[in-house]
This record gives sequence, structure tokens and C-alpha cells, in this order.
Amino acid sequence: MLTVTTAQRGRREAELKTTIRHELERARSAIESLLAPVPDGVLAAQVSPLQSPLVWDLAHIGWFEELWLLRRVGGRAPHEERHDELYDAFAHVRGERGELPILRPEQARAYVADVRRAALEVLDETPLDPGDRLLADGYVFGLVVSHELQHIETILQTLQLREQPYPALPGPAPVGGAGPSDVLVPGGSFVLGATEERWAYDNELDAHEVELPAFRLDRTPVTNGAYLAFVEDGGYGEPSWWSDEGWAWRGAENAGHPLYWTPGPGGWSRRRFGRVEPLPPAEPVQHVSWYEADAYARWAGRRLPSEAEWEKAAKGACGAEQLLGGVWEWTSSHFLPYPGFEAFPYAEYSEVFFGEEYRVLRGGSWATDPLVARPTFRNWDYPQRRQIFAGFRCASDA
Ligand SMILES: [Fe+2]
Repeated sequence: MLTVTTAQRGRREAELKTTIRHELERARSAIESLLAPVPDGVLAAQVSPLQSPLVWDLAHIGWFEELWLLRRVGGRAPHEERHDELYDAFAHVRGERGELPILRPEQARAYVADVRRAALEVLDETPLDPGDRLLADGYVFGLVVSHELQHIETILQTLQLREQPYPALPGPAPVGGAGPSDVLVPGGSFVLGATEERWAYDNELDAHEVELPAFRLDRTPVTNGAYLAFVEDGGYGEPSWWSDEGWAWRGAENAGHPLYWTPGPGGWSRRRFGRVEPLPPAEPVQHVSWYEADAYARWAGRRLPSEAEWEKAAKGACGAEQLLGGVWEWTSSHFLPYPGFEAFPYAEYSEVFFGEEYRVLRGGSWATDPLVARPTFRNWDYPQRRQIFAGFRCASDA
């Protein structure tokens, strides 16, 4: 009996290791194909003060993998001590990273390949001890996979900021289908947070019951066409639609429309990965700040949903559509810990960001890997942030 159990456990572990290897390879080939069309000179350039040079992202992915898999799990010595200072995201703000003595593109490619070879050795030789929270279900390997997948999106944000054309990419699916403009989500309790996701982040825990009154939620995200009606109605010139902070932001930015939009005699256009094209009216609006989302909602006689409302809609069969993998959706919620929160495996992923400075985004965008774009995943950002692939949908009390 005991031998059977041991054999089963061994088989399960071998399967899990195969999954991890596959996910690591999948993430890496996605990063490589994104960066392949970009010349080395551009990889090393500081495209925008808002983003790191692309080659920093690449080496930072390797550094994070080295830190957790090679050093922490494998007990190996640091590759180069100075990488800790260069590639720790807390050591330097993004706008400074182009000035640092970071690895050149060919060095960065060699570094990440070395780290990966060693990481696969560590995976082979490490038992995924269910009694060790870092190793149980391959958690730390999942952490490294998720981190690399999340940087795909960061890289895409940088490529979108560039004015030079990049090969065509898919975007959010246009909003379509027949149906009501909004749906009713009945009142009652539901479980907020991750219950089955083996590689959930600490901020998705503890899952807990939340009681919500009934509310209405847009069936689909707000489209470019709908948002344009707000712009053309003079929404950016009417302070009553804006919060005080939002109105101050709008003035300081001189914002009159979403980022990358341009008005013209023949109608509105937008720039997407270096190509100017007519604004597609049925596509979900992107590149709006939280302030813009909040102002639009007020103009529409609605409000933004809370993150709990959003998650309840995403977990239930209420009829809301395109919640996952279209655009990130701003919510009214600040980024705060759930009851019973415990930082794991490090405080710098979530804990240091908790507070009223950030707003939560949900759902994942077209640029987010499906492993990350799950109903319980919490993203957060400053309310003024616009280079992210963020839109929103509106809600109202029932
Ligand atoms: Fe990172």
C-alpha cells in the first residue's frame, strides 16, 4: 500500500515537473519572439521614462529566476553580485535604468540562457516537497513562470509607446453580440479570492465570503465608440464629471481624449504599435487612466464596479461578457489586503503596495497570458497610469 502511494506521488511530481518545464519554455519563447524584430540598439534604448529599456526587462527576468530558483532553491552562488543592484526593481526607477551599466543585448541573452539551463537542472534535482510551502505544487517555479509572463505585457507597453512600426499584433476582441447593455447580478454572498489556483499570489488569499447587494454591470467593456460620445459631448471640459483629483490631473496633462488618439478632419484615429489607423468604434477603449474611467462613469450616470463586484460577476453566470483577456478593467477599489493576508514568499510583490495610492484592475488584457488572466488575479496601478492596456465597464446599484 505504502509503495503504491509513493509511486503515485512520484508520478504526480513527474507530471508537475513536465508542466513546469513546458510553462517555462512557453514563457521564454513568447519573450524571444516579441523581442526578435527589435534591433539591439532599440533594445538598449530608454524608449520612455515610464518604462525600462527592453534589455533591462530581459535580464531582469533572468535575475529573478536566478534569485529564486538557482540561489534560493538550488543554493547556488550569485552569478554576479552587482546584478542584485542593477536588476532589483526597487533599486532604480524605470526612467533611470537606461543610464545604468546594464548588460548589453548579447550579454543579456547569454545570461538568461545560462540561468535557464541551471534552473532546469535545479528543477530536475529538487523534490517538490509538499511540506515546504515554497516547493509544494511547484509554487516557486510557478512564481518565476508568472513573473516572466507578466513581463510580456510590460514589454508590449514599451513597444506600444514607440512610434516606429512593430509587426501587427492581435488586440482586444470587438464588442459584439446581441444582448442587453447591462446585466443584473443578484445580491448574496460569494467567495472572493483564490481557492483552487495552485500558483495564486499572496494578495489573492485568504479566500473569504463577501456579501454584496444586487447591482447592475455593463454586459461588455465600454467601447471606443461609446467613449467618443463622452469626448464629443465635451466631457473633458466639464468639471462636474470629474473627481477633484481627476480634474487636477486632466488639467496638468492637458488631456482631452485617451492616450494614442488623434482627432482629424476625416474622423478620429489612433496609433497602435507604430501604425496610425482609424479608431475602431466597436473595440473596447484602452489607454484611459482611472480618472478618465471614473469621469466617464459619472457622465453616463453610472459608477465603476468594486473589485468584489467585478469578481462576483466573473465567477457567476450573470451574463456579463468579455471579462477576461480583453482589456484590464479599472475598479473603484483601492489595493488592500484580504482578511488573513500573509506576505508570501516576499513582501515586495504585494504588501509594500497596499494602501490608497493604487486602484485595482481586473480581468487581464489581450496582452496578458491566460495563466495570469484569471478571475481572482489582482493588478493595481496609479490612477493616472495610461500606457497600460486598461479600459473599464460601468456598474450601478440595482
Ligand atoms: Fe519584474
